[in-house]
Amino acid sequence: MGDAKQAYDALITEVKQIATLGSCANVLGWDEQTYMPKGGVKHRSEQLALLAGLTHERFTCTQIGDWLAEVEGSDLVSDRLSVEAVNVRELRQSYDRETKLPKDLVQELARMTTIGQQAWAEARSDSDFAAFQPHLEKILDLKKKEAAALGVGKTPYDALLDEYEPGETTDNLTNVFSALRNELVELVGAIVDSGNKPNMDIVKRLYPKDKQAEFGQMVASQIGFDFDCGRLDETAHPFCSGFGPGDTRLTTRYDEHYFPQALFGTMHEAGHGIYDQGLNADYYGTPMGNSVSLGIHESQSRMWENFVGRSNAFWTHFFPKAQTTFPDALGQVSQDDFYFAVNNVEASFIRVEADEVTYNLHILLRFEMEQALMNGGLNVADVPGVWNETFEKYFGITPPDDAHGCLQDIHWSFGGIGYFPTYTLGNLYAAQLFEQARDDVGDLDAQFAAGEFLPLKSWLNEKIHKPGQKYRASELVDVVTGKPLSHAPLIRHLKTKFGSLYGIG
Ligand code: CO
Repeated sequence: MGDAKQAYDALITEVKQIATLGSCANVLGWDEQTYMPKGGVKHRSEQLALLAGLTHERFTCTQIGDWLAEVEGSDLVSDRLSVEAVNVRELRQSYDRETKLPKDLVQELARMTTIGQQAWAEARSDSDFAAFQPHLEKILDLKKKEAAALGVGKTPYDALLDEYEPGETTDNLTNVFSALRNELVELVGAIVDSGNKPNMDIVKRLYPKDKQAEFGQMVASQIGFDFDCGRLDETAHPFCSGFGPGDTRLTTRYDEHYFPQALFGTMHEAGHGIYDQGLNADYYGTPMGNSVSLGIHESQSRMWENFVGRSNAFWTHFFPKAQTTFPDALGQVSQDDFYFAVNNVEASFIRVEADEVTYNLHILLRFEMEQALMNGGLNVADVPGVWNETFEKYFGITPPDDAHGCLQDIHWSFGGIGYFPTYTLGNLYAAQLFEQARDDVGDLDAQFAAGEFLPLKSWLNEKIHKPGQKYRASELVDVVTGKPLSHAPLIRHLKTKFGSLYGIG
Protein backbone atom coordinates (compact mmCIF):
# COMPACT_ATOMS: atom_id res chain seq x y z
CA MET A 1 0.00 0.00 0.00
CA GLY A 2 2.79 2.43 0.95
CA ASP A 3 4.59 1.75 -2.30
CA ALA A 4 1.41 2.09 -4.32
CA LYS A 5 0.66 5.43 -2.69
CA GLN A 6 4.15 6.62 -3.49
CA ALA A 7 3.84 5.47 -7.07
CA TYR A 8 0.43 7.15 -7.38
CA ASP A 9 1.71 10.46 -6.02
CA ALA A 10 4.71 10.39 -8.34
CA LEU A 11 2.43 9.57 -11.29
CA ILE A 12 0.07 12.46 -10.51
CA THR A 13 2.92 14.95 -10.06
CA GLU A 14 4.32 13.92 -13.43
CA VAL A 15 1.02 14.02 -15.38
CA LYS A 16 0.15 17.42 -13.89
CA GLN A 17 3.47 18.76 -15.18
CA ILE A 18 2.86 17.22 -18.59
CA ALA A 19 -0.60 18.83 -18.69
CA THR A 20 0.88 22.20 -17.77
CA LEU A 21 3.48 21.81 -20.50
CA GLY A 22 0.73 20.86 -22.97
CA SER A 23 -1.35 23.87 -21.97
CA CYS A 24 1.45 26.16 -23.18
CA ALA A 25 0.64 24.88 -26.67
CA ASN A 26 -2.95 26.07 -26.18
CA VAL A 27 -1.75 29.61 -25.51
CA LEU A 28 0.37 29.52 -28.66
CA GLY A 29 -2.47 28.00 -30.69
CA TRP A 30 -4.92 30.66 -29.51
CA ASP A 31 -2.46 33.42 -30.35
CA GLU A 32 -1.87 31.91 -33.79
CA GLN A 33 -5.61 32.18 -34.55
CA THR A 34 -6.16 35.64 -33.05
CA TYR A 35 -3.24 38.09 -33.04
CA MET A 36 -0.12 36.47 -34.52
CA PRO A 37 1.20 38.29 -37.60
CA LYS A 38 1.33 36.21 -40.81
CA GLY A 39 5.13 36.14 -40.73
CA GLY A 40 5.10 34.20 -37.46
CA VAL A 41 3.64 31.00 -38.86
CA LYS A 42 6.86 29.11 -39.52
CA HIS A 43 8.43 29.75 -36.13
CA ARG A 44 5.09 29.04 -34.45
CA SER A 45 4.86 25.62 -36.11
CA GLU A 46 8.36 24.87 -34.78
CA GLN A 47 7.36 25.94 -31.26
CA LEU A 48 4.24 23.77 -31.39
CA ALA A 49 6.07 20.76 -32.83
CA LEU A 50 8.70 21.00 -30.08
CA LEU A 51 6.06 21.14 -27.35
CA ALA A 52 4.10 18.24 -28.89
CA GLY A 53 7.28 16.17 -29.03
CA LEU A 54 8.19 16.98 -25.41
CA THR A 55 4.75 16.09 -24.03
CA HIS A 56 4.54 12.90 -26.08
CA GLU A 57 8.01 11.82 -24.97
CA ARG A 58 7.30 12.44 -21.29
CA PHE A 59 3.90 10.76 -21.36
CA THR A 60 5.08 7.61 -23.15
CA CYS A 61 8.09 7.14 -20.86
CA THR A 62 8.18 3.58 -19.43
CA GLN A 63 8.29 5.05 -15.91
CA ILE A 64 4.62 6.06 -16.36
CA GLY A 65 3.75 2.48 -17.29
CA ASP A 66 5.62 1.18 -14.23
CA TRP A 67 3.82 3.54 -11.86
CA LEU A 68 0.46 2.62 -13.41
CA ALA A 69 1.17 -1.10 -13.04
CA GLU A 70 2.17 -0.66 -9.42
CA VAL A 71 -1.01 1.20 -8.50
CA GLU A 72 -3.34 -1.01 -10.59
CA GLY A 73 -2.77 -4.08 -8.45
CA SER A 74 -3.27 -2.23 -5.14
CA ASP A 75 -6.07 -1.44 -2.67
CA LEU A 76 -5.73 2.21 -3.62
CA VAL A 77 -7.99 1.62 -6.63
CA SER A 78 -10.39 -0.98 -5.19
CA ASP A 79 -13.30 1.50 -5.19
CA ARG A 80 -13.76 1.99 -8.92
CA LEU A 81 -15.22 5.49 -8.51
CA SER A 82 -12.57 6.86 -6.16
CA VAL A 83 -10.41 9.73 -7.40
CA GLU A 84 -7.41 7.40 -7.57
CA ALA A 85 -9.23 4.64 -9.46
CA VAL A 86 -10.71 7.05 -12.01
CA ASN A 87 -7.37 8.75 -12.62
CA VAL A 88 -5.57 5.44 -13.04
CA ARG A 89 -8.30 3.98 -15.31
CA GLU A 90 -8.21 6.94 -17.70
CA LEU A 91 -4.44 7.44 -17.61
CA ARG A 92 -4.03 3.76 -18.51
CA GLN A 93 -6.33 4.27 -21.48
CA SER A 94 -4.34 7.28 -22.75
CA TYR A 95 -0.98 5.68 -22.01
CA ASP A 96 -1.86 2.50 -23.93
CA ARG A 97 -3.23 4.51 -26.83
CA GLU A 98 -0.08 6.62 -27.11
CA THR A 99 2.36 3.76 -26.64
CA LYS A 100 0.59 1.26 -28.91
CA LEU A 101 1.12 3.47 -31.93
CA PRO A 102 4.50 2.94 -33.60
CA LYS A 103 6.48 6.16 -33.80
CA ASP A 104 6.89 5.97 -37.58
CA LEU A 105 3.11 5.66 -38.00
CA VAL A 106 2.54 8.72 -35.79
CA GLN A 107 5.08 10.71 -37.76
CA GLU A 108 3.73 9.57 -41.12
CA LEU A 109 0.21 10.54 -40.04
CA ALA A 110 1.40 13.97 -38.89
CA ARG A 111 3.17 14.49 -42.20
CA MET A 112 0.35 13.22 -44.45
CA THR A 113 -2.35 15.15 -42.62
CA THR A 114 -0.37 18.40 -42.72
CA ILE A 115 0.00 17.96 -46.49
CA GLY A 116 -3.57 16.64 -46.71
CA GLN A 117 -5.03 19.76 -45.07
CA GLN A 118 -3.27 21.97 -47.55
CA ALA A 119 -4.39 19.80 -50.48
CA TRP A 120 -7.94 19.81 -49.13
CA ALA A 121 -8.04 23.62 -48.83
CA GLU A 122 -6.96 23.97 -52.46
CA ALA A 123 -9.25 21.19 -53.69
CA ARG A 124 -12.19 22.79 -51.92
CA SER A 125 -11.57 26.24 -53.35
CA ASP A 126 -11.33 24.70 -56.85
CA SER A 127 -14.15 22.25 -56.07
CA ASP A 128 -11.87 19.54 -57.45
CA PHE A 129 -12.29 16.24 -55.60
CA ALA A 130 -9.84 14.41 -57.87
CA ALA A 131 -7.04 16.63 -56.52
CA PHE A 132 -7.82 15.55 -52.95
CA GLN A 133 -8.53 11.88 -53.72
CA PRO A 134 -4.95 10.50 -53.52
CA HIS A 135 -4.41 12.32 -50.20
CA LEU A 136 -7.59 10.95 -48.70
CA GLU A 137 -6.61 7.46 -49.89
CA LYS A 138 -3.26 7.71 -48.09
CA ILE A 139 -4.80 9.14 -44.93
CA LEU A 140 -7.43 6.38 -44.82
CA ASP A 141 -4.75 3.78 -45.31
CA LEU A 142 -2.83 5.18 -42.32
CA LYS A 143 -5.99 5.40 -40.22
CA LYS A 144 -6.63 1.71 -40.92
CA LYS A 145 -3.12 0.95 -39.69
CA GLU A 146 -3.76 3.11 -36.63
CA ALA A 147 -7.02 1.28 -35.85
CA ALA A 148 -5.26 -2.09 -36.21
CA ALA A 149 -2.44 -1.01 -33.88
CA LEU A 150 -4.92 0.20 -31.27
CA GLY A 151 -7.02 -2.95 -31.52
CA VAL A 152 -9.91 -1.44 -29.54
CA GLY A 153 -13.54 -2.48 -30.12
CA LYS A 154 -15.19 -4.79 -32.64
CA THR A 155 -14.40 -2.88 -35.82
CA PRO A 156 -11.63 -0.53 -36.99
CA TYR A 157 -14.15 2.32 -36.83
CA ASP A 158 -14.74 1.56 -33.13
CA ALA A 159 -11.03 2.08 -32.46
CA LEU A 160 -11.12 5.54 -34.07
CA LEU A 161 -14.41 6.55 -32.42
CA ASP A 162 -12.92 5.61 -29.06
CA GLU A 163 -10.38 8.40 -29.36
CA TYR A 164 -13.07 11.10 -29.36
CA GLU A 165 -15.80 9.37 -27.34
CA PRO A 166 -14.12 6.84 -25.04
CA GLY A 167 -16.16 3.67 -24.63
CA GLU A 168 -18.70 4.48 -27.36
CA THR A 169 -19.37 1.85 -30.03
CA THR A 170 -20.52 1.86 -33.64
CA ASP A 171 -23.30 -0.63 -32.83
CA ASN A 172 -24.80 1.60 -30.16
CA LEU A 173 -24.58 4.71 -32.34
CA THR A 174 -26.11 2.89 -35.30
CA ASN A 175 -29.16 1.99 -33.22
CA VAL A 176 -29.69 5.44 -31.76
CA PHE A 177 -28.92 7.29 -34.99
CA SER A 178 -31.14 5.21 -37.28
CA ALA A 179 -34.16 5.84 -35.05
CA LEU A 180 -33.28 9.53 -35.11
CA ARG A 181 -32.88 9.66 -38.89
CA ASN A 182 -36.36 8.35 -39.66
CA GLU A 183 -38.01 10.85 -37.33
CA LEU A 184 -35.92 13.75 -38.64
CA VAL A 185 -36.66 13.07 -42.31
CA GLU A 186 -40.37 13.01 -41.46
CA LEU A 187 -40.18 16.26 -39.46
CA VAL A 188 -38.26 18.10 -42.18
CA GLY A 189 -40.91 16.95 -44.69
CA ALA A 190 -43.74 18.24 -42.50
CA ILE A 191 -41.99 21.60 -42.06
CA VAL A 192 -41.49 22.01 -45.82
CA ASP A 193 -45.10 20.95 -46.50
CA SER A 194 -46.43 23.49 -44.00
CA GLY A 195 -45.45 26.23 -46.46
CA ASN A 196 -44.69 28.53 -43.52
CA LYS A 197 -41.55 30.63 -43.60
CA PRO A 198 -40.18 33.31 -41.30
CA ASN A 199 -39.33 36.75 -42.60
CA MET A 200 -35.55 36.37 -42.79
CA ASP A 201 -35.06 40.02 -43.74
CA ILE A 202 -35.30 40.81 -40.02
CA VAL A 203 -31.96 39.21 -39.16
CA LYS A 204 -30.21 40.38 -42.34
CA ARG A 205 -30.44 44.12 -41.65
CA LEU A 206 -27.41 46.13 -40.52
CA TYR A 207 -26.16 45.04 -37.09
CA PRO A 208 -23.02 47.11 -36.32
CA LYS A 209 -20.13 44.92 -35.27
CA ASP A 210 -19.21 46.84 -32.11
CA LYS A 211 -22.81 46.61 -30.92
CA GLN A 212 -22.89 42.87 -31.65
CA ALA A 213 -19.68 42.38 -29.64
CA GLU A 214 -21.15 44.34 -26.72
CA PHE A 215 -24.43 42.39 -26.86
CA GLY A 216 -22.72 38.99 -27.15
CA GLN A 217 -20.41 39.74 -24.23
CA MET A 218 -23.39 40.80 -22.10
CA VAL A 219 -25.28 37.58 -22.92
CA ALA A 220 -22.25 35.32 -22.32
CA SER A 221 -21.67 36.98 -18.99
CA GLN A 222 -25.30 36.69 -17.92
CA ILE A 223 -25.52 32.96 -18.72
CA GLY A 224 -22.53 32.43 -16.46
CA PHE A 225 -19.27 32.76 -18.39
CA ASP A 226 -16.81 34.45 -16.02
CA PHE A 227 -14.92 37.22 -17.82
CA ASP A 228 -12.53 37.64 -14.88
CA CYS A 229 -11.29 34.20 -15.92
CA GLY A 230 -11.69 34.46 -19.68
CA ARG A 231 -11.85 36.63 -22.80
CA LEU A 232 -13.78 36.88 -26.06
CA ASP A 233 -11.83 37.63 -29.24
CA GLU A 234 -12.40 37.45 -32.99
CA THR A 235 -11.30 34.67 -35.38
CA ALA A 236 -12.16 33.24 -38.80
CA HIS A 237 -13.32 29.99 -37.17
CA PRO A 238 -14.84 30.30 -33.69
CA PHE A 239 -13.47 28.09 -30.91
CA CYS A 240 -12.98 27.81 -27.16
CA SER A 241 -9.61 27.06 -25.63
CA GLY A 242 -9.16 26.32 -21.94
CA PHE A 243 -5.62 27.23 -20.92
CA GLY A 244 -6.09 25.94 -17.39
CA PRO A 245 -7.72 27.08 -14.14
CA GLY A 246 -8.65 30.75 -14.31
CA ASP A 247 -8.11 31.28 -18.03
CA THR A 248 -10.57 30.21 -20.74
CA ARG A 249 -10.57 31.89 -24.16
CA LEU A 250 -13.57 32.23 -26.47
CA THR A 251 -13.63 33.46 -30.04
CA THR A 252 -16.41 34.35 -32.46
CA ARG A 253 -16.89 35.98 -35.88
CA TYR A 254 -19.13 38.82 -36.94
CA ASP A 255 -21.31 39.32 -40.00
CA GLU A 256 -22.88 42.78 -39.92
CA HIS A 257 -25.70 41.52 -42.14
CA TYR A 258 -26.50 38.25 -40.40
CA PHE A 259 -27.24 38.67 -36.72
CA PRO A 260 -27.49 34.97 -35.64
CA GLN A 261 -23.91 34.09 -36.57
CA ALA A 262 -21.93 35.95 -33.91
CA LEU A 263 -24.44 35.74 -31.08
CA PHE A 264 -25.19 32.02 -31.30
CA GLY A 265 -21.52 31.32 -32.05
CA THR A 266 -20.60 33.22 -28.90
CA MET A 267 -23.20 31.34 -26.85
CA HIS A 268 -21.97 28.03 -28.29
CA GLU A 269 -18.36 28.73 -27.35
CA ALA A 270 -19.42 30.18 -23.99
CA GLY A 271 -21.15 26.84 -23.33
CA HIS A 272 -17.82 25.08 -23.92
CA GLY A 273 -16.15 27.73 -21.76
CA ILE A 274 -18.60 27.36 -18.87
CA TYR A 275 -17.76 23.64 -18.87
CA ASP A 276 -14.02 24.36 -18.73
CA GLN A 277 -14.51 26.98 -16.00
CA GLY A 278 -16.62 24.48 -14.05
CA LEU A 279 -13.94 21.76 -13.91
CA ASN A 280 -12.44 21.04 -10.49
CA ALA A 281 -9.24 23.12 -10.40
CA ASP A 282 -7.78 21.00 -7.57
CA TYR A 283 -7.64 18.09 -10.01
CA TYR A 284 -6.21 20.11 -12.90
CA GLY A 285 -3.98 18.04 -15.15
CA THR A 286 -5.56 14.73 -14.16
CA PRO A 287 -8.62 12.92 -15.59
CA MET A 288 -10.73 13.93 -12.56
CA GLY A 289 -10.17 17.56 -13.54
CA ASN A 290 -10.77 17.03 -17.24
CA SER A 291 -13.83 17.00 -19.50
CA VAL A 292 -15.42 13.64 -20.36
CA SER A 293 -15.46 13.53 -24.16
CA LEU A 294 -16.08 15.61 -27.26
CA GLY A 295 -19.75 14.56 -27.19
CA ILE A 296 -20.30 15.75 -23.63
CA HIS A 297 -18.39 18.96 -24.37
CA GLU A 298 -20.62 19.58 -27.38
CA SER A 299 -23.72 18.88 -25.27
CA GLN A 300 -22.82 21.90 -23.15
CA SER A 301 -22.27 24.23 -26.11
CA ARG A 302 -25.42 23.06 -27.88
CA MET A 303 -27.52 23.39 -24.76
CA TRP A 304 -26.64 27.06 -24.26
CA GLU A 305 -26.77 27.83 -27.98
CA ASN A 306 -30.01 26.05 -28.90
CA PHE A 307 -32.01 24.92 -25.89
CA VAL A 308 -31.43 28.24 -24.12
CA GLY A 309 -30.39 30.80 -26.76
CA ARG A 310 -32.95 29.85 -29.41
CA SER A 311 -35.83 29.55 -26.92
CA ASN A 312 -38.74 31.96 -26.74
CA ALA A 313 -38.26 32.36 -22.96
CA PHE A 314 -34.68 33.53 -23.47
CA TRP A 315 -35.87 36.21 -25.90
CA THR A 316 -38.64 37.31 -23.56
CA HIS A 317 -35.78 38.57 -21.43
CA PHE A 318 -33.30 39.64 -24.11
CA PHE A 319 -35.44 40.89 -27.01
CA PRO A 320 -36.22 44.30 -25.43
CA LYS A 321 -32.47 44.69 -24.83
CA ALA A 322 -31.76 43.70 -28.44
CA GLN A 323 -34.27 46.33 -29.60
CA THR A 324 -32.50 49.00 -27.54
CA THR A 325 -29.08 47.90 -28.84
CA PHE A 326 -30.20 47.63 -32.48
CA PRO A 327 -33.03 50.20 -32.77
CA ASP A 328 -32.81 50.57 -36.58
CA ALA A 329 -32.96 46.82 -37.26
CA LEU A 330 -35.37 45.69 -34.55
CA GLY A 331 -37.29 48.76 -33.37
CA GLN A 332 -40.43 47.82 -35.33
CA VAL A 333 -40.10 44.02 -35.12
CA SER A 334 -42.19 41.76 -32.85
CA GLN A 335 -40.58 39.16 -30.60
CA ASP A 336 -42.60 36.42 -32.33
CA ASP A 337 -41.28 37.33 -35.78
CA PHE A 338 -37.72 37.58 -34.47
CA TYR A 339 -37.98 34.25 -32.64
CA PHE A 340 -39.26 32.57 -35.83
CA ALA A 341 -36.42 34.09 -37.89
CA VAL A 342 -33.67 32.76 -35.58
CA ASN A 343 -35.29 29.32 -35.86
CA ASN A 344 -35.63 29.12 -39.63
CA VAL A 345 -35.54 25.48 -40.86
CA GLU A 346 -34.33 24.92 -44.38
CA ALA A 347 -32.55 22.18 -46.33
CA SER A 348 -29.09 23.56 -47.05
CA PHE A 349 -25.79 22.18 -48.32
CA ILE A 350 -23.38 23.35 -45.63
CA ARG A 351 -23.34 21.57 -42.26
CA VAL A 352 -21.98 24.43 -40.17
CA GLU A 353 -24.79 26.71 -41.38
CA ALA A 354 -27.56 24.17 -40.74
CA ASP A 355 -30.47 24.71 -38.34
CA GLU A 356 -31.33 22.62 -35.28
CA VAL A 357 -33.57 20.20 -37.22
CA THR A 358 -31.55 19.46 -40.35
CA TYR A 359 -28.13 19.57 -38.65
CA ASN A 360 -28.09 15.94 -37.54
CA LEU A 361 -28.91 14.66 -41.03
CA HIS A 362 -25.61 16.19 -42.18
CA ILE A 363 -23.85 14.16 -39.48
CA LEU A 364 -25.69 10.90 -40.19
CA LEU A 365 -24.60 11.03 -43.81
CA ARG A 366 -20.96 11.43 -42.77
CA PHE A 367 -21.24 8.70 -40.12
CA GLU A 368 -22.49 6.19 -42.71
CA MET A 369 -19.85 7.12 -45.28
CA GLU A 370 -16.95 7.03 -42.82
CA GLN A 371 -17.83 3.53 -41.76
CA ALA A 372 -18.06 2.37 -45.38
CA LEU A 373 -14.68 3.98 -46.13
CA MET A 374 -13.07 2.25 -43.16
CA ASN A 375 -14.53 -1.22 -43.77
CA GLY A 376 -13.84 -1.17 -47.51
CA GLY A 377 -17.48 -0.91 -48.60
CA LEU A 378 -16.79 2.39 -50.32
CA ASN A 379 -13.89 3.44 -52.54
CA VAL A 380 -12.57 6.97 -52.20
CA ALA A 381 -13.18 7.56 -55.92
CA ASP A 382 -16.91 6.97 -55.38
CA VAL A 383 -17.23 9.46 -52.50
CA PRO A 384 -18.67 12.39 -54.51
CA GLY A 385 -21.32 10.24 -56.21
CA VAL A 386 -22.43 8.48 -53.04
CA TRP A 387 -22.42 11.76 -51.10
CA ASN A 388 -24.71 13.45 -53.62
CA GLU A 389 -27.07 10.47 -53.87
CA THR A 390 -27.43 10.23 -50.09
CA PHE A 391 -27.82 13.99 -49.80
CA GLU A 392 -30.65 13.97 -52.32
CA LYS A 393 -32.33 11.17 -50.36
CA TYR A 394 -32.14 13.02 -47.00
CA PHE A 395 -32.63 16.63 -48.06
CA GLY A 396 -34.36 16.50 -51.45
CA ILE A 397 -31.66 18.69 -53.01
CA THR A 398 -28.39 17.86 -54.79
CA PRO A 399 -25.13 19.74 -54.11
CA PRO A 400 -24.19 21.88 -57.14
CA ASP A 401 -20.50 20.93 -56.74
CA ASP A 402 -18.14 19.09 -54.37
CA ALA A 403 -17.22 22.28 -52.50
CA HIS A 404 -20.86 22.31 -51.37
CA GLY A 405 -20.75 18.53 -50.95
CA CYS A 406 -18.05 16.10 -49.89
CA LEU A 407 -15.25 18.70 -49.80
CA GLN A 408 -16.89 21.13 -47.37
CA ASP A 409 -15.40 19.85 -44.08
CA ILE A 410 -11.76 19.83 -43.00
CA HIS A 411 -12.07 16.74 -40.72
CA TRP A 412 -11.04 13.91 -43.05
CA SER A 413 -7.97 15.87 -44.18
CA PHE A 414 -6.62 16.04 -40.61
CA GLY A 415 -7.41 12.36 -40.08
CA GLY A 416 -10.48 13.07 -37.93
CA ILE A 417 -12.38 9.93 -38.95
CA GLY A 418 -14.90 9.13 -36.18
CA TYR A 419 -15.11 12.76 -35.08
CA PHE A 420 -18.42 13.73 -36.74
CA PRO A 421 -20.71 11.48 -34.65
CA THR A 422 -19.69 13.40 -31.52
CA TYR A 423 -21.63 16.42 -32.84
CA THR A 424 -24.89 14.48 -32.98
CA LEU A 425 -24.08 12.80 -29.68
CA GLY A 426 -23.73 16.31 -28.28
CA ASN A 427 -27.23 17.21 -29.48
CA LEU A 428 -28.68 13.97 -28.09
CA TYR A 429 -26.94 14.37 -24.73
CA ALA A 430 -28.00 18.02 -24.56
CA ALA A 431 -31.67 17.11 -25.09
CA GLN A 432 -31.65 14.31 -22.54
CA LEU A 433 -29.79 16.39 -19.93
CA PHE A 434 -32.02 19.41 -20.54
CA GLU A 435 -35.16 17.33 -19.94
CA GLN A 436 -33.67 16.19 -16.66
CA ALA A 437 -32.74 19.76 -15.74
CA ARG A 438 -36.39 20.74 -16.29
CA ASP A 439 -37.36 18.11 -13.71
CA ASP A 440 -34.62 18.98 -11.23
CA VAL A 441 -34.28 22.75 -11.46
CA GLY A 442 -37.91 23.84 -11.73
CA ASP A 443 -39.54 26.08 -14.33
CA LEU A 444 -36.59 26.86 -16.59
CA ASP A 445 -38.74 28.92 -18.99
CA ALA A 446 -39.89 31.20 -16.19
CA GLN A 447 -36.30 31.53 -15.00
CA PHE A 448 -34.97 32.36 -18.48
CA ALA A 449 -37.77 34.88 -19.06
CA ALA A 450 -36.67 36.58 -15.83
CA GLY A 451 -33.02 36.57 -16.95
CA GLU A 452 -32.04 33.89 -14.43
CA PHE A 453 -29.56 31.38 -15.81
CA LEU A 454 -27.64 30.56 -12.65
CA PRO A 455 -29.94 27.69 -11.57
CA LEU A 456 -29.28 25.79 -14.83
CA LYS A 457 -25.57 26.63 -14.76
CA SER A 458 -25.21 25.47 -11.14
CA TRP A 459 -27.02 22.22 -11.98
CA LEU A 460 -24.60 21.61 -14.87
CA ASN A 461 -21.62 22.49 -12.63
CA GLU A 462 -22.78 19.93 -10.10
CA LYS A 463 -23.91 17.10 -12.39
CA ILE A 464 -21.58 17.38 -15.39
CA HIS A 465 -18.57 19.63 -14.78
CA LYS A 466 -17.36 18.88 -11.25
CA PRO A 467 -17.24 15.04 -11.65
CA GLY A 468 -14.55 15.33 -14.35
CA GLN A 469 -14.03 11.90 -15.91
CA LYS A 470 -15.51 9.98 -12.99
CA TYR A 471 -17.92 8.40 -15.49
CA ARG A 472 -17.57 7.73 -19.19
CA ALA A 473 -20.08 9.65 -21.31
CA SER A 474 -22.79 6.99 -21.61
CA GLU A 475 -22.61 6.12 -17.91
CA LEU A 476 -22.69 9.80 -16.95
CA VAL A 477 -25.91 10.30 -18.90
CA ASP A 478 -27.38 7.20 -17.28
CA VAL A 479 -26.36 8.34 -13.79
CA VAL A 480 -27.71 11.88 -14.25
CA THR A 481 -30.95 11.04 -16.08
CA GLY A 482 -31.62 7.49 -14.88
CA LYS A 483 -31.88 6.31 -18.51
CA PRO A 484 -29.51 5.19 -21.25
CA LEU A 485 -28.96 7.51 -24.21
CA SER A 486 -32.00 7.71 -26.46
CA HIS A 487 -33.09 9.72 -29.50
CA ALA A 488 -36.49 10.36 -27.89
CA PRO A 489 -35.71 13.54 -25.86
CA LEU A 490 -34.23 15.30 -28.89
CA ILE A 491 -37.20 14.35 -31.06
CA ARG A 492 -39.63 15.50 -28.34
CA HIS A 493 -37.81 18.84 -28.13
CA LEU A 494 -37.77 19.36 -31.91
CA LYS A 495 -41.37 18.28 -32.47
CA THR A 496 -42.70 20.49 -29.68
CA LYS A 497 -40.70 23.54 -30.62
CA PHE A 498 -40.93 23.40 -34.42
CA GLY A 499 -44.43 21.92 -34.41
CA SER A 500 -45.65 25.08 -32.76
CA LEU A 501 -43.46 27.42 -34.83
CA TYR A 502 -44.55 25.89 -38.15
CA GLY A 503 -48.12 25.08 -37.09
CA ILE A 504 -47.83 21.29 -37.58
CA GLY A 505 -48.58 18.06 -35.73
CO1 CO B 1 -18.59 22.99 -30.31
